[in-house]
Amino acid sequence: MRVLITGGAGFIGGHLADRFVREGFRVRILDSLEPRVHPHGRPNYLPARAEFVQGDVTDRSVLLCALQGVDIVSHQAAYQDYMPDFSRFLQVNAVATALLFELIIGQRLPVKKVIVASSQAVYGEGQYCCLDHGDFQPLPRSPGQLQRGNWEVSCPLCQGPVQALALEERWHNPYNQYAVSKLAQERTALGLGWLHGIPTVALRYSITQGRRQSLYNRYSGVCRIFCTRALQHLPLMLYEDGHQTRDFVHVDDVVEANMLVLEKEEANGQVFNVGSGCATTILEYARRVLGRIPSLAGIDISSQYRRGDNRHSVSSIDKLKRLGWKPKRGMDEILGDFLEWVESSGGIPASLPDPADEMRAAGVLLSATN
Ligand SMILES: NC(=O)c1ccc[n+]([C@@H]2O[C@H](COP(=O)([O-])OP(=O)(O)OC[C@H]3O[C@@H](n4cnc5c(N)ncnc54)[C@H](O)[C@@H]3O)[C@@H](O)[C@H]2O)c1
Repeated sequence: MRVLITGGAGFIGGHLADRFVREGFRVRILDSLEPRVHPHGRPNYLPARAEFVQGDVTDRSVLLCALQGVDIVSHQAAYQDYMPDFSRFLQVNAVATALLFELIIGQRLPVKKVIVASSQAVYGEGQYCCLDHGDFQPLPRSPGQLQRGNWEVSCPLCQGPVQALALEERWHNPYNQYAVSKLAQERTALGLGWLHGIPTVALRYSITQGRRQSLYNRYSGVCRIFCTRALQHLPLMLYEDGHQTRDFVHVDDVVEANMLVLEKEEANGQVFNVGSGCATTILEYARRVLGRIPSLAGIDISSQYRRGDNRHSVSSIDKLKRLGWKPKRGMDEILGDFLEWVESSGGIPASLPDPADEMRAAGVLLSATN
């Protein structure tokens, strides 16, 4: 069996490539080596037995060539990060997925299964419950609310406090260009897969962490930024008040989820969350980092915020658990593996620009006025 991994030089794709090679698959990687992710070109962790093709998934002839002789497509390539070129998100994430199916169907390629990497981002600000008015899907918090440093979501009817609910696969509420492109991607893949009899699965990953996370793109976020600042004895800067919650999953668990849905026919045509099932506040995350890298500079609750950030994002993982998967690694393994990898690759590069400066310049990072 031959598998094509798009984005196979990336963080998750690279781990998938290792696993597919170990399982005896012939592996072909198609990756454009985006400079923001790979400023030094092809990473040296790619398995020697994998075939590597440098090219863009939006390029019809490149993608058609990469699909020759392929049984399984693991579609991981994506345009990410806090970038202002909105249309590129749709082109790479949604249009290239349509192109993938156009080629498989139009050229009658004998692809037996497609797995696409979607994201928890499709939930946007998610789903909340008001004790008096029931469940609702909020709009993103308004610029005015954030300017006032009023961080929590409230009930749109009574303005009272609300409870964030674990995100379930039947919901979606995307607003930003990345989230919309990921929903379009999974809908395109599942819809065309169903109509044309190509078994397809979409996995909505939560924030995935572990060895080989890019040290360069802003998307790889909190783990790299906190560890970098702690190693440099700079304060860990928390956005908002640090009580926003997230859900962090280890990359090895994400690989396990991919292998499970590949094997299980019951998974076909469906979307599954892949997360930890646990809420972690950013404040708790910072404390865990400082538990491993003691720094006198401590934590700075900055009252700065990022435009478009969600307040609470924690996925329910019950559906994938029912299929036989469960996460085996927690925050200790995530931080331990990341730091071990940073050390083995010679430490955090000294010349990295501060992502906060870049986001401030791009108008993404703002300050509350009170
Ligand atoms: N890492 C996370 O926390 C996370 C969370 C949710 C969803 N995802 C999704 O998982 C997938 C993998 O993410 P990752 O964290 O490994 O990211 P990554 O940036 O490490 O890897 C993505 C790879 O895709 C390649 N790529 C980008 N545009 C391309 C193009 N047009 N053609 C060919 N290759 C291209 C990049 O060079 C990179 O090697 C993505 O689809 C992403 O949206 C990741």
